[in-house]
Amino acid sequence: MKQASDVILSTEGLGKSFDGLRANNAIDFTLRKNRVHALIGPNGAGKTTFVSMLIGRLAPTDGAIWFDGQNVTEMPAHRRVALGMGYTFQITSVFSRLSCHENVALAARRKAGRGKGEVEAVVADALVRVGLGERADEVAGDLSYGHQRLLEIAMGLASAPRLLILDEPTQGLAESEIAAFKALIRALSAETTILLIEHNMSVVMELADEITVLNFGEILAHGTAAEIHANPAVQAAYLGTETA
Ligand SMILES: Nc1ncnc2c1ncn2[C@@H]1O[C@H](COP(=O)(O)OP(=O)(O)OP(=O)(O)O)[C@@H](O)[C@H]1O
Ligand SMILES: [Mg+2]
Repeated sequence: MKQASDVILSTEGLGKSFDGLRANNAIDFTLRKNRVHALIGPNGAGKTTFVSMLIGRLAPTDGAIWFDGQNVTEMPAHRRVALGMGYTFQITSVFSRLSCHENVALAARRKAGRGKGEVEAVVADALVRVGLGERADEVAGDLSYGHQRLLEIAMGLASAPRLLILDEPTQGLAESEIAAFKALIRALSAETTILLIEHNMSVVMELADEITVLNFGEILAHGTAAEIHANPAVQAAYLGTETA
């Protein structure tokens, strides 16, 4: 398979089975460069399973993953990071006893070949970009939950990703924090491709250039926000159950 030049990542027939449960099935997916692409779907639809295969935390049962023209299906996660994939987890994964600065520095050092000066510059930049520049020396566990999620995004940014995958970044955030998050994603999207798993429909509809809907482990629909919003199958499976 050959990727078009505006495609940064694609999957072909990607599938994952857990002891007979088909969590992902035959997923053909294309992520275009410099887009915000939202992945939505009901709880248990297979969203986290899908991105876990993209980043190399889970091995696919079948199918292939291509990143920037290379088949990365069997590549270890750290090599995918080196190629330019960054991500944050659905479950908060900061080191609560370390400072904000130390958390981001750990992530920044994962990118090979960086000297101390460069690590410091990357850390400072990432913290400023998510709005935590003033809190660099605070212990992560003392931050509000919303600030911890922003810290995770800073950790994701520290590897200078060309593709940033965010798994439910706004879960548990207050409305004011969600507004700040939207502004952050808009700013980041100028230079980075973003794959956003998100349940908050106002975030999806405002930010996403493209939306893919997963349902029972398969792609139910793909299109622009307006197309997805108007899609009867999507409404039946998902949107009708949301309050937003
Ligand atoms: N490690 C695992 N072992 C067994 N089953 C799993 C495992 N991980 C996920 N599953 C199952 O696979 C299905 C898809 O789960 P997944 O976490 O990918 O859904 P999701 O779309 O991310 O859901 P949510 O919106 O709740 O985060 C679910 O039925 C889940 O229970
Ligand atoms: Mg999930």
